Amino acid sequence: MSFFETFMLVLIAVAAVVTPLGLYEGIVAGPTSTAPAFHYIKDMSPMGYGTAPRDTNNTWSRLCGAFLLIPCPNDNNAATVVDNLTTISVDYQNDTYSSEVPKKVIDVFQSGLKNFNESVSSVFDIQFRNYVGSEVDDNEEGPIIDNRTSRTVGNYQPLSSLLLNDAIVPVEGLIVDMKNGGIGFRNHSAPTRKPYGSTWSEDILFVVPDTVCVDTNLTIDFVIPRTKSEGLKARSGVYRPSLTDRGGFINLNKTYPRWIVGDVQQNPELWYRAYRAAWLSNAYSMAYMNVTNFANETTGVKAFAYLNSEMNKNFPLYYPDNETATGGLSISPQMFSISTIFGSHLDGTEGLSNISTVGNQTTEYDFESKLPIYPNPFGVNSTQWSSIGEHWVYDIINILSLIHIPDTLCRGQGGGDLANITNIVSKCGVLNGAPIRNDGSTSLMFDPGSEWSVSMYTCMSTVQATIKTVSFRFNGTNDDLTGLEVVSLLDKTYPTEDPKPLWGVENSEMYLKDGNPLWGLVSEERSESLNLSTVRKASLYLPGRDGVMGWQNLPGVDFASIALDMAYNFAFTTKGVDYSGQSNLAMFRKWQELSKNPATSAKILNLIWTDIAANMVVGTKSLAPHENAKRKRDDATGDASTTPPVTNYTRRVKYHNAYGIPAFLALVLIVACFTSLIYFVLFSGATPSTMRTFLQHTSAGRLLTSHAGNAGHAQPHTGYDGYTPRGEGDGYSDTPTKVWLKGAGQRRFTLGGEGWTKNVQDVPGYDRKGGATATYAPVPNPQGY
Ligand SMILES: *[C@@H]1O[C@H](CO)[C@@H](O)[C@H](O)[C@H]1NC(C)=O
Ligand SMILES: *[C@@H]1O[C@H](CO)[C@@H](O)[C@H](O)[C@H]1NC(C)=O
Ligand SMILES: *[C@@H]1O[C@H](CO)[C@@H](O)[C@H](O)[C@H]1NC(C)=O
Ligand SMILES: *[C@@H]1O[C@H](CO)[C@@H](O)[C@H](O)[C@H]1NC(C)=O
Ligand SMILES: *[C@@H]1O[C@H](CO)[C@@H](O)[C@H](O)[C@H]1NC(C)=O
Ligand SMILES: *[C@@H]1O[C@H](CO)[C@@H](O)[C@H](O)[C@H]1NC(C)=O
Ligand SMILES: *[C@@H]1O[C@H](CO)[C@@H](O)[C@H](O)[C@H]1NC(C)=O
Ligand SMILES: *[C@@H]1O[C@H](CO)[C@@H](O)[C@H](O)[C@H]1NC(C)=O
Ligand SMILES: *[C@@H]1O[C@H](CO)[C@@H](O)[C@H](O)[C@H]1NC(C)=O
Ligand SMILES: *[C@@H]1O[C@H](CO)[C@@H](O)[C@H](O)[C@H]1NC(C)=O
Ligand SMILES: *[C@@H]1O[C@H](CO)[C@@H](O)[C@H](O)[C@H]1NC(C)=O
Ligand SMILES: *[C@@H]1O[C@H](CO)[C@@H](O)[C@H](O)[C@H]1NC(C)=O
Repeated sequence: MSFFETFMLVLIAVAAVVTPLGLYEGIVAGPTSTAPAFHYIKDMSPMGYGTAPRDTNNTWSRLCGAFLLIPCPNDNNAATVVDNLTTISVDYQNDTYSSEVPKKVIDVFQSGLKNFNESVSSVFDIQFRNYVGSEVDDNEEGPIIDNRTSRTVGNYQPLSSLLLNDAIVPVEGLIVDMKNGGIGFRNHSAPTRKPYGSTWSEDILFVVPDTVCVDTNLTIDFVIPRTKSEGLKARSGVYRPSLTDRGGFINLNKTYPRWIVGDVQQNPELWYRAYRAAWLSNAYSMAYMNVTNFANETTGVKAFAYLNSEMNKNFPLYYPDNETATGGLSISPQMFSISTIFGSHLDGTEGLSNISTVGNQTTEYDFESKLPIYPNPFGVNSTQWSSIGEHWVYDIINILSLIHIPDTLCRGQGGGDLANITNIVSKCGVLNGAPIRNDGSTSLMFDPGSEWSVSMYTCMSTVQATIKTVSFRFNGTNDDLTGLEVVSLLDKTYPTEDPKPLWGVENSEMYLKDGNPLWGLVSEERSESLNLSTVRKASLYLPGRDGVMGWQNLPGVDFASIALDMAYNFAFTTKGVDYSGQSNLAMFRKWQELSKNPATSAKILNLIWTDIAANMVVGTKSLAPHENAKRKRDDATGDASTTPPVTNYTRRVKYHNAYGIPAFLALVLIVACFTSLIYFVLFSGATPSTMRTFLQHTSAGRLLTSHAGNAGHAQPHTGYDGYTPRGEGDGYSDTPTKVWLKGAGQRRFTLGGEGWTKNVQDVPGYDRKGGATATYAPVPNPQGY
């Protein structure tokens, strides 16, 4: 202990200064309370400002039929429909057509909600963000729609792009996940404001895009023109573009990837579908360029008999005079592009003739004819390309032939398939990434003469509905949406198979070209009242094909496919919102970063879909009591269960533990000290009285008085001279201090100077005890003390 003495002193001094520095004021979670009231919070951002007020008269409407109106599944219209390859006819029993969705049907597709928290939306809690009234159908032919009244239909008018927010953003009616893509439906509300905020979590219905991209292992490489004359030969700033074999031709698997449709909901095989598109696209390109051959049954030659390519071989997409061959080549230095049309990289390479003949009329134009760059010995044309992607022209006259557009190889469904759970919303296309410099630098400078490379991927997208658990924090100064923050967004976890959501999809006899089937969360009992296919799964791949804006009012059924269609054709469909990066360098940079590999490229499409969808729809499910509250109460659902438990935060004094280290160390040493003390007290007899004895025996004063002897004392001592163990005025004694002080303690000694002989000075009153002056002399020490 003596050894640590100095250290302890320093330590305690340090602790005294440092310990209070660790104190600070913190915000901590208080107790969780159960049923506070939630209130609506308004979005003051452009998204909220531009959103139309909710139509309190919102009525759902559903109209089916691509060319002629036909009754929808589960509605009240009655007609005899003939629709086969040759004939389409609809014979109405009554010359009226009602777009009303029967209440019974709506109830079934909402029946599954009772197994979830109040915050989960159904398909009928999704509305178009903006809407208009439809034109009244005054056509004399065909059935009279809705007794010639107008109905509400959706209207897409973009409000604000959220694309560059790398965050989960709550906006009016939605939670928009701009990190991974997806929108959650929620009409925002929050508990009463607390000074230090509150947190809670909710289960929310999300619709999320799911995209897979596959590398074709081909790139399009080009040069930025260096001179004016080169610039004249370039198209859209692309000079001497060429298709480069990065393994897409030379390493192509020689087996045709067949596909047998399995259980699409369990495994939609997105990668395989995208891979098929890449494979077919590469194989057709190869045949077009005579890199390889098709099989020929007449001559018995097998496919891939020769392969005229090697790694990194360039296949020019320019004419011998260096003029870029461009038709629909959607490549330009400062943009990223996606197209549902396959084979467009070869457009323009088929040569140019300056003579055109219409009837008898022959016109000669004032430009040089060009020979085709590639021989195309197998006659690859749009027929083949459109079997993978979309048809070139939507021919309005041959509208019946649209039914059998063969763009099914990648999408996995066509307009002639049935609207059921198997045929899911999907879109397929070629993604040309944002150009990346060939010299490996990340520079965005399009220097003259610099070489650039564009990767070519084929992508396949679908859309899923799922339930996610969202944690919120509300810490607003106002009752507006800026105070609401999404803390975390996780897939809802289910302990067993049974509480997983039961999704129902109409099992209809209707073709997909005529309309999309209804889907929703259903309950086991109610699902049997309609002809439904059900699946118990964490998520549902949404069924359907190409929804149409401004036709019917079933946003939950249509918006996912409309947004997907817009995302894949954003150059024409998004009303001026440019997702190519051409008008936004930050976006270009983001796309450049993401288009480096197929996995991250998929995210580009997911984000574009999310941005479009966020501008298109809102969720109306709210925890705040609203006009329908009365009806809700009639449903006998207890009010208390409608809001989630909320944790409120309060201010507390808190402590940074690191600052407590010196104090804790001191404490440990003190405890050690006391422990050893107690040990000695208990087991070594170091009781207070023993200690007192030792102290008294070693006290300098007592030592002196004891050895000076006491002349006035008669009792002899056996030890050595002058020792007087007991009595008033004792020297070396155990007398209590008070007594000793008044006795022997009064004596005065002078030490040092003339050796050990010294007179004890007289002290007034001393005489009372002994009355003598004592002479202190060195004492012989016979016993060796
Ligand atoms: C709702 O319907 C009522 C009665 O039909 C009508 O007076 C009212 O204007 C409608 N509200 C809206 C917002 O259209
Ligand atoms: C189409 O339906 C009509 C009327 O039922 C029938 O006459 C015709 O043969 C059918 N065509 C085909 C190709 O099935
Ligand atoms: C035909 O219309 C009348 C009047 O609108 C209605 O009462 C009747 O139920 C309708 N019949 C059918 C088969 O829809
Ligand atoms: C259809 O509209 C007319 C005129 O607006 C009205 O007289 C008639 O009652 C309506 N019919 C139905 C079935 O609502
Ligand atoms: C391109 O290469 C990747 C990786 O080697 C491979 O997974 C993919 O299937 C290839 N693409 C084609 C179309 O063969
Ligand atoms: C080529 O494709 C076939 C069918 O898709 C597959 O079975 C085979 O494993 C593939 N070969 C290679 C080398 O990837
Ligand atoms: C295509 O290539 C093969 C093999 O190199 C060659 O024999 C054939 O003549 C070529 N066909 C054309 C039309 O150039
Ligand atoms: C098969 O080869 C024969 C003879 O070369 C040719 O006339 C025919 O067009 C070829 N067929 C196909 C489908 O290429
Ligand atoms: C085309 O460009 C290449 C490389 O820049 C050059 O060598 C060649 O002379 C050019 N040809 C013509 C016809 O301009
Ligand atoms: C085409 O030529 C034929 C004979 O050369 C002539 O009879 C006919 O009127 C011409 N048609 C037109 C549209 O000029
Ligand atoms: C494409 O080629 C096929 C024969 O391979 C031909 O029947 C068809 O008419 C061609 N289509 C176009 C649009 O040229
Ligand atoms: C859905 O329709 C397709 C035909 O388009 C059919 O092959 C499939 O079996 C149907 N799915 C169900 C669940 O009935």
